[in-house]
Amino acid sequence: MSKVLFEITEELLETGLRGVPVGYCTTSRVDPEKGLFYREKPISYFKTWDPEKVIHFLYSGKVDGVTQFNEQLKNRASLSPDTVAAIYRLPREGHPMKLFSAALLVAGMIEGKNDYYEDGLNLIAKIPHLTATVINFHAGWGETPPPDPALGYMENFAEMVNVPSGDKKELTKIFRLFNILHYDHGGGNLSTFVGKAIASGKEDMYGSLSGAMCALAGPLHGKANQDALLFVQDLLKAVGGQLSPDAVEKELRERIRNKDIIYGFGHAVLRQEDSRATVLYDLINADFPDNPLVKMVNLLREVGPKVLKENPKISDPYPNVDAVSGTALSAAGFGYPEYFTVLFGLSRLVGIVAQIMYERLEARGGKGTPIVRPKYIYKPS
Ligand code: MLT
Repeated sequence: MSKVLFEITEELLETGLRGVPVGYCTTSRVDPEKGLFYREKPISYFKTWDPEKVIHFLYSGKVDGVTQFNEQLKNRASLSPDTVAAIYRLPREGHPMKLFSAALLVAGMIEGKNDYYEDGLNLIAKIPHLTATVINFHAGWGETPPPDPALGYMENFAEMVNVPSGDKKELTKIFRLFNILHYDHGGGNLSTFVGKAIASGKEDMYGSLSGAMCALAGPLHGKANQDALLFVQDLLKAVGGQLSPDAVEKELRERIRNKDIIYGFGHAVLRQEDSRATVLYDLINADFPDNPLVKMVNLLREVGPKVLKENPKISDPYPNVDAVSGTALSAAGFGYPEYFTVLFGLSRLVGIVAQIMYERLEARGGKGTPIVRPKYIYKPS
């Protein structure tokens, strides 16, 4: 008799598959109280690691072999000149996530090998070059220099993206940490689930990732980091010079009364402060304690849960990673909210690729998981 994992009742229909187990995730898990784990280790364990070492660990479960893995990444890091030229021929209108998803499809048309392993590794290696090209083109920041084999994974990205101002050292530091924190978040977050669902029909890695990035672009998923910073900036304006818990609480209550969205709080799985947010609060409080945005997110961290807890319908009144990630990027010199979700995509691609590799190449004794095909119950309208 097989173990019963979950009972499906009618109330669960039309609730976004909340909590329904559908498969295995070998790279990470999200504990409601303790937050994100990459394999067996909590996310805070990785905050000082090199990004390429974390990627290697996430993907293989090992730390040895990182030098060889690094070599592979370096050898595969450049987009072909044809891909770069084709990206520069795409429209620049609209949100940069649209350009990002289109660029992934274009790269697949030109460089795809229709092999989940080869394409997956190539994508992880090339994504800093592709992302820098997309941002530079969309922002009008000029031509993108090619990756430099002497530099690390995110050092290269910081060098290729032509941010007009900001201290390169600070930018590199925040890009590295932001990258590490966003690689993976269990198997069921929307972009990962969508990417795996597309790949289950045997669409190739590039197409699956392009679709996954369209899923990430939504304001309830990846674009929440952009919207949350705008919310923090707006609150700052609303309280004027009054950076006090009382002023912030008054303003929050006013917004709740008006049924406005309180950005950066709550999560489908988490029931405590997001452990990724905790890492970022520590960084900004150490490096930028006098920045007004930092002061505001600290006040929100204190007051938000207190106010939101009063509503019994809110199951998670605590800050999630988006509450603070945009402030951390801005304080470190990357004050370009339009590109925050693209930075999320640059990172999340790594976990989605690793999870697609597992489902296509390893699951069910190497047969792979079958095409996703859930049941919908017919309801006459
Ligand atoms: C994520 O990192 O994907 C978000 O926290 C959303 C989620 O886990 O569902």
